Amino acid sequence: VKTIGVLTSGGDAPGMNAAIRAAVRRGLGQGVQMKGILKGYDGLMNEEIIDLSAKDVSDTIERGGTILYTARCAEMRTEEGQKKAVETCRKFGIDGLVVIGGDGSFAGAQKLASLGVNTVGVPGTIDLDIACTEYTIGFDTAVNTAMEAIDKVRDTSTSHERCSIIEVMGRNAGYIALWCGIANGAEDILLPEKYDYDEQKIINNIIENRKRGKKHHIIINAEGIGHSQAMAKRIEAATGIETRATILGHMQRGGSPTCKDRVYASIMGAYAVDLLIAGKNKRIVGYKNGEYVDFDINEALAMQKTIPEYQFEIAKALSYNYVK
Ligand code: F6P
Repeated sequence: VKTIGVLTSGGDAPGMNAAIRAAVRRGLGQGVQMKGILKGYDGLMNEEIIDLSAKDVSDTIERGGTILYTARCAEMRTEEGQKKAVETCRKFGIDGLVVIGGDGSFAGAQKLASLGVNTVGVPGTIDLDIACTEYTIGFDTAVNTAMEAIDKVRDTSTSHERCSIIEVMGRNAGYIALWCGIANGAEDILLPEKYDYDEQKIINNIIENRKRGKKHHIIINAEGIGHSQAMAKRIEAATGIETRATILGHMQRGGSPTCKDRVYASIMGAYAVDLLIAGKNKRIVGYKNGEYVDFDINEALAMQKTIPEYQFEIAKALSYNYVK
């Protein structure tokens, strides 16, 4: 390959800049021209393409967000949009493409690869919901941001002897909720993968725990379950215990990436470029069993990710509800 384009697509994630920087520097170091595509696939539709030098990615490794901007591009799901994207790559001489994003972004990459653009995906999403990898860029920062915020809510929840419902991100995936549930010692964890939770049981637990001297009750609710304010009203009415809902929202997607996100993202960004330079195509970079690996894009997208049952069981077993 002579020219590699880099884009970030879908929800941003802390560490994306580290991956961009690594891809750019690794490519330039090996004599490849590097280009940035702005605003994800939208930038391919609208030819928003810039040259990237080593200097352009200076002072970015510590920054949250993505210097290339991002978008969720509906046009990329159409045949016409995919053809337009390929034409733009041809016009700008882009013969290799690094796509940093989640499964939706990889579906676009899969199409481009089948239309002749060499493509490698790098998992970038705070949701950790990509089946072929145990690590996704941004999850570590997001879950630490959420954990710290929940600790703060816990302080005031205890002072006021309240029940607190804290809603964390994850429309379809409960990994942030599960990890915060364990890290913050929540009494209840509601995950989109386990939609059939029993609200009456939660109410009973709150009443019983209060009788046993528990001063607060923390419920971590994933965005995919949602309705935290309404849930708080119902719980307060049923228990007689003041209940508040806090929705953490997009703060979880911002902020300076953790050391882990900077390091893993850097290696994955460089790895993606190495694959393209080695003539590989249709690959997704992953991290499995302590190693950086890559998968065929079709196989990667066909894999299913589920919440690890044992972790969920332990999260529940450690809560005050279950230890009498
Ligand atoms: O990027 C992942 C994510 O933050 C999900 O957790 C969340 O459901 C979604 O994006 C929110 O997307 P948007 O910012 O477009 O509303």
